[in-house]
Amino acid sequence: MGEPALDNSAVSPPPQSLIERLKDYGQEDAFALWDELSPEERDHLVKDIESLDLSRIDRIIRCSLSSQGLLAAAVEPVPESNVSSVEERSMEERERWWKMGLKAISDGKLGVLLLSGGQGTRLGSLDPKGCFNIGLPSGKSLFQLQAERILRVQILASQSVNEGSARFTPIHWYIMTSPFTDEPTRKFFESHKYFGLEADQVTFFQQGTIPCVSKDGRFIMETPYRVAKSPDGNGGVYSALKYSKLLEDMAMRGIKYLDCYGVDNALVRVADPTFLGYFIDKGVAAAAKVVRKAYPQEKVGVFVRRGKGGPLSVVEYSELDPSLASEINQATGRLRFCWSNVCLHMFTLDFLNQVANGLEKDSIYHLAEKKIPSVHGHTEGYKLEQFIFDAFPYAPSTALFEVLREEEFAPVKNANGSNFDTPESARLLVLRLHARWVVAAGGFLTHTVPLYATGVEVSPLCSYTGENLEAICRGRTFHAPCEISF
Ligand code: UTP
Repeated sequence: MGEPALDNSAVSPPPQSLIERLKDYGQEDAFALWDELSPEERDHLVKDIESLDLSRIDRIIRCSLSSQGLLAAAVEPVPESNVSSVEERSMEERERWWKMGLKAISDGKLGVLLLSGGQGTRLGSLDPKGCFNIGLPSGKSLFQLQAERILRVQILASQSVNEGSARFTPIHWYIMTSPFTDEPTRKFFESHKYFGLEADQVTFFQQGTIPCVSKDGRFIMETPYRVAKSPDGNGGVYSALKYSKLLEDMAMRGIKYLDCYGVDNALVRVADPTFLGYFIDKGVAAAAKVVRKAYPQEKVGVFVRRGKGGPLSVVEYSELDPSLASEINQATGRLRFCWSNVCLHMFTLDFLNQVANGLEKDSIYHLAEKKIPSVHGHTEGYKLEQFIFDAFPYAPSTALFEVLREEEFAPVKNANGSNFDTPESARLLVLRLHARWVVAAGGFLTHTVPLYATGVEVSPLCSYTGENLEAICRGRTFHAPCEISF
């Protein structure tokens, strides 16, 4: 037997004032299925709509839909003077930056900010992406790899200023979650005892959500009594920091620089002393690590300059004209627009404050075209997102720092079986890099599968960038795949 039919003759109408407010913004269809709802569901729908700041959301939807296509206007390549490329960097500079960074870290001036509010739909895992085990010999999750790199940098920083002392300054780790990832992320950290970090050096905070809309800007209903919503993009970090009062928390701790990065890079050098030293040395407000674009159609955003003498900003691959994307710089033979953004940023706390108090006023969100789960099964529509790099044009000074992708970029975006950026491709990138470290440190590898398909994993607790491995590896033979730890 099915559910008893509702007696609709007794249905009370939706609150008139709410209907009027929705009508002001053309969103009254949100109540289209009112008559079919149970009393609890009606209550739920009213609360759901009341929780939305309708005028703000309306402004965002209108600005974002009407600015579509305008974002790619008038772009120029980034001037070389804004970029530190790998080939022009001297050994002395690298050593100087490394030491400067370690000193600032031991002085407690660096905070680390992880963007971990995404839904990871392409990866298809039910857990937050950071919980994902990419299949390394250790079975470590992305969160664990990052936590252990933080632990290692703490030790390096303490050793650099304080030979022999076991005391170190903790690096504070701010982790942005969303309603979709918050609880499982916190539980994962608790159940893994914060991977050896102190629980009080980790702060979780949540970003906001925003309704998903159809192509004509109407709310998509996920169920008859709930508006479909998604996190407001990793650029939601600025308002989330402001509303959770964490910028004050950072200031109170003496933090001056924030290393901000995405969760889904298995090679991410969290709290990289060299990048920090470079950043301090340059005296800029914002910086990004970049890698050279691999080929014109690669699906990555690139840094550009907006107009003559304009600020640096990022253009998403979907927003860059394909003819511009394949233009060659005749002098170098390389792509004109070649500096790919890989979501590894450094900001001063002063600049974060400035952005958190100003960015929302512009209200232009990017539109990500998606199939949104809805009362109709799926509806073609948009998720509205701000991106962390939206702040770059507001920076008084910006610098780009080239890194090698084989050393620092192993993205985990798509499920295994896809053609690129999978857990498997990331696993191999880690194993190959670490195999090179081990060989450089005088170790030997044996393997029963071809070496291109295997390698070794070095625990971040032993080594951050390949340092410190001679004592462990010299003259020893390791059978790949395996983990090398203390
Ligand atoms: P992606 O743009 O790759 O999105 O995020 P995603 O949610 O992880 O994956 P898909 O697109 O649904 O498959 C890049 C980084 O930004 C974070 C992600 O957690 C990841 O670290 N992010 C993304 C947020 O923190 N919040 C968001 O709203 C979106």
